[in-house]
Amino acid sequence: MEGKQTKLVIAIDGFSSCGKSTMAKDIAKRMGYIYVDTGAMYRAVTLYALRNNWIKDDNIDKKNLIDSLDDIKISFQYNQENQSNITFLNGENIETEIRQLKVSDNVSIVAAIAEVRKHLVKLQQEFGKDAGVVMDGRDIGTVVFPNADLKIFMTADPLIRAQRRYDELKAKGDLVTIEEILANVEKRDHIDQTREESPLTKADDAITLDNSHLTPVEQTAQVMQWIKDKITEKDS
Ligand code: DC
Repeated sequence: MEGKQTKLVIAIDGFSSCGKSTMAKDIAKRMGYIYVDTGAMYRAVTLYALRNNWIKDDNIDKKNLIDSLDDIKISFQYNQENQSNITFLNGENIETEIRQLKVSDNVSIVAAIAEVRKHLVKLQQEFGKDAGVVMDGRDIGTVVFPNADLKIFMTADPLIRAQRRYDELKAKGDLVTIEEILANVEKRDHIDQTREESPLTKADDAITLDNSHLTPVEQTAQVMQWIKDKITEKDS
C-alpha cells in the first residue's frame, strides 16, 4: 500500500502489554510509515532517574528530574525491514535495559509527572509532524495528536497480557514469575487510568480493538481494513 496515496497519522493507545508496539511496528512497515514508541521515551526518562538514584520506594526526586529534562536526549533507530526499534539515551543503546522489570516497576510514577509529559509530548509532536506516522502510547489520540486520522484503542484481558509479557521476558532469560508480572500489569493499569495528568482514556472517536482472542493475522487484517477505509474516505 506504499506509494503516493494520502498518508495518515495513526494513533494507537491502550493498556500495557496489549501488543501495541508489535502491531504499530507491523503497520508502519506495511505502510512505509515511521514508527514512534512513546512508552520507550517514558522508560528512557525512568532509566535516567534510576541511574541517578532519584527514585526510592515509589518516591521520586521530581525537582532534580525536571531540572535535567533538557539533558535527556532520546532518539530512535528504526529499521523498517526487520522492524527493530532501538532506543538511545544520550547516544547509548538502552533498548534492552528499558524493558527490564526495574524500569517497568517505576515508569508509571515518572509518567505521572506533568513536566515530564509536557516535555515528551512536545518531542512526540515533533517526531510525527509529517503524516505517515504510527505512534503508540496512552495519550496519542487524546493529547499528542487529537486530530489523528485513525485512532485505535487496544485492550486485552489482564491475565492474557501478563502471560504474554512473561513469555517475552522468560525468552530473554529474565527470572520473573507470572504473579510478579500480573501484579505489575494491574498496578500500571491502575496508575495509568487514575493519574491526574493525561490518564489513559479512550478518545471518543477511537475504535476499540480487544485482541484477547484474536490471532496476530486476524488483528492485522482488521487494522489494515480500517486504514484502507480511512484512506478511501480521505481521498473521496
Ligand atoms: O507502552 P509501555 O508499557 O512501554 O509504556 C511504559 C509506561 O509509560 C506505561 O506505564 C505508561 C507510560 N506511558 C504514558 O504514560 N504515555 C504514553 N504516551 C506512553 C507510555
